[in-house]
Amino acid sequence: MKIAVVGSGYVGLVAGACFADLGHEVILVDNDRQKLAALRDGQVPIHEQFLPELLSRHRGNRLTFSDDLKEAARLSSAIFVAVGTPPTERGEADLSYVESVAREISGGLDGYKVVIEKSTVPVYTSEWVRRIILRNGADPESFDVASNPEFLREGSAVTDFLFPDRIVIGADSGRTAEVLGEIYAPLTDGSYYQRTDAIPQPDHARIPPPIIVTSTKSAELIKHASNAFLAMKISFVNAVASVCESVGADVKQVVHGLGTDSRIGRRFLNPGIGYGGSCFPKDVMAFRAVARECGYDFRLLDEVMRINEDQRERFLRKIHSALWTLRGKRVAVLGLAFKGGTDDIRESPALFLVKALLEEGSQVAAYDPAAMDRARDVLGSKVEFRASAYDAAQDADALLILTEWEEFGNLDLSRIRKALRYPIIIDGRNLYDSETMAAQGFTYYSVGRAAAHPDGVPTGFMRNGKRHE
Ligand code: UGA
Repeated sequence: MKIAVVGSGYVGLVAGACFADLGHEVILVDNDRQKLAALRDGQVPIHEQFLPELLSRHRGNRLTFSDDLKEAARLSSAIFVAVGTPPTERGEADLSYVESVAREISGGLDGYKVVIEKSTVPVYTSEWVRRIILRNGADPESFDVASNPEFLREGSAVTDFLFPDRIVIGADSGRTAEVLGEIYAPLTDGSYYQRTDAIPQPDHARIPPPIIVTSTKSAELIKHASNAFLAMKISFVNAVASVCESVGADVKQVVHGLGTDSRIGRRFLNPGIGYGGSCFPKDVMAFRAVARECGYDFRLLDEVMRINEDQRERFLRKIHSALWTLRGKRVAVLGLAFKGGTDDIRESPALFLVKALLEEGSQVAAYDPAAMDRARDVLGSKVEFRASAYDAAQDADALLILTEWEEFGNLDLSRIRKALRYPIIIDGRNLYDSETMAAQGFTYYSVGRAAAHPDGVPTGFMRNGKRHE
């Protein structure tokens, strides 16, 4: 099928490359000519596993790039809208990019086409998109608007796209659902997975994925509700971790017992320094705003956000309790992006903490396998960027682990101990076992677990109501 994908951000670029891999002819449309030239030239603008392979496989043949939206719409049977929906100052989603795409598309509707929302948008957006297209002169019979939300995670976006838990199609007519069904047929009929050149199958993949057909409004809500629920799960476990710290319980054990209940599930129950990224913070806020606008006061979401902000502050207090004053201290930081496996620093809790350390007068030596260039743009020369975890640790008063890259969980601990001025590790992602760290000679702080100390005396935590410093 001929498909136009509008917007070459994370979602658009990954969706475009994956649709091409499913055998469709894709035009990726963006108004950023420089970006298009870079893509044509073979550059890959984001750090994403398997994306370079897919782009080099299809670039120039099944995947082409254009800044002419009207023409791309004219040439395509399905037009996916994957432009940004950034938050406004009031926390609502700014839909002006979606609106301007809808306006422009209307000139290219010269036969039946389906316009599909892929961006995360509030419920009712599809109605507005339809209205805008009609207002600009399109024939009502020449198009339908559908919603096909995306559930991909940065870092594993290609795999999430090609091996999804489910494919949600929000369509208000059988004809629309049929077009979308045809687009995803190589996944739902399983033929993609039989190909020898298919992207490798991850563990726990559900093959073939189920297709869920709903109304457009329901599909729009599924996306917001999914992200809000996952954010709630993270805030919930972070709150449980705080209770664990107060009473001396171990959050890893609690999560094991909790998550083994199949109704609850083990995934997305990792406590840490709070969720970040371009989706959860924005989407929880937007969903809160949508609910308010529709007459429901969704206060649970306020609490999800509050716990999330508090989690960063708690971690900062933990750094204080390990180092006392921060002025003049040298702190090694591992991880700058909003999570491991990505170079994306948007709404990164790690960056929030680095900025807080700088404000308190610490010197920061940082290392991240992928995000240093982006972080340098924001932090400039205030931070020393180092080539490895060991370089960052050299002569530091403590080492902070802020994202869960695999290499951060497999450090040569004796090398780290020798590099550090004091053997103190403050781990915001619980990558290590507390006893092992103590046996290796570290004072080890983590989230939701008592601090471990080489001589066995926990420091800085409440035990039986008494604080041990
Ligand atoms: C998220 C969703 O997981 C995707 O399903 C969705 O498609 C995407 O948003 C989107 O709306 O585009 P993403 O933002 O890439 O994906 O990252 P996640 O892996 O979900 O992580 C989000 C944040 O939560 C990160 O800061 C991560 O460190 C944190 N997190 C995640 C935890 O603190 N604990 C966990 O157990 C899981």
